Amino acid sequence: MSNTQLNGEDFISWLDFERDEIDAILEAAHDLKRRQIRGEKQTNVLPAKSLFMLFYNTSLRTRNSFEAGMTQLGGHAHFLQPGAVYTPALEGEEEAYSTERVSDVARVLSEMGDAISIRIYGDKTDWQYGKGYKILQEFASWGSVPIINMEDDGYHPCQALADVMTMQEKMGKDLSGKKFTMSWAYSGSVEKPLSVPQSAVISAATMGMDVTLAHPEGLDLDSDVLDATEKRAKKHGGDFEIVHDMEEGFADADVVYPKSWTLQPTDGSTADLDKAREVFEDNKDWITTRDKMALTNDAYYMHCLPADRGMEVTDEVIDGPNSVVFQEAGNRLHAQKGLLSLLLS
Ligand code: CP
Repeated sequence: MSNTQLNGEDFISWLDFERDEIDAILEAAHDLKRRQIRGEKQTNVLPAKSLFMLFYNTSLRTRNSFEAGMTQLGGHAHFLQPGAVYTPALEGEEEAYSTERVSDVARVLSEMGDAISIRIYGDKTDWQYGKGYKILQEFASWGSVPIINMEDDGYHPCQALADVMTMQEKMGKDLSGKKFTMSWAYSGSVEKPLSVPQSAVISAATMGMDVTLAHPEGLDLDSDVLDATEKRAKKHGGDFEIVHDMEEGFADADVVYPKSWTLQPTDGSTADLDKAREVFEDNKDWITTRDKMALTNDAYYMHCLPADRGMEVTDEVIDGPNSVVFQEAGNRLHAQKGLLSLLLS
């Protein structure tokens, strides 16, 4: 895979990419991280390039890792907040002089810069699964520069790059045969999209890991994503299973990734957040504790952050010796630099 083959591509879901393309992005990420540690200047990688970042939702890691990454590569990232700029809206959902049709925004920004990245999910899509993804696809069909998904209602592909990069640093480049458990976890907030768990199972399956998805009955992920994960697992020599018991999911795992997600219908209808609250309160015991970690194969504890301490996980686990969450967060920077260097070079 040469760099030019990814130049100009959109990055919306791992399902659009084959393993060799993902490997190329990860290799670039590891290389740029090594070069940064050696103190090498990287401002010649994307000199004077501009990334426009549209954040419908809040962010700590995603915003700052893209912004710092573009600066380190010699370019610049612009933070754009819908409402402060005319809010990009789909045809039929426009309001005069407060929104601007996505097709127009995409073409305007394409005239000025080199890539557009977008975060949109949850209340910004009225909790209608697929609407965020649709807006990203609309940007992609009208924009003439790469469109990068900074998290929509179905996928968080940049988080998945950082997750895999972190696992490779801990366990070696070849992750095949390692047991990866993506587990639901309780939270005091039900406003959590399906994006992280869906991208996590897809990416672990792409890397040939043995993937276990653990969640209480009813908190299913998108069946299309589950089918795609099953296919990827088979293709890359791993397994995929679903269990409904957190302890069963943790048994003998090499990596655990316990994270909350909401009760979200995936047929496009609006999520019932009151019903989600009832389901969440029935499953408060889905918290990662030291006792549950003792069931694993001395597993690494991962989380995309922010984590809900005392709800998703105890302090002693997230601050304990098996937690890699801060390395994982730091790798958002390096993974996205690898991605940007290939898409924009
Ligand atoms: N993990 C993640 O996407 O963090 P932010 O919401 O802070 O960007």
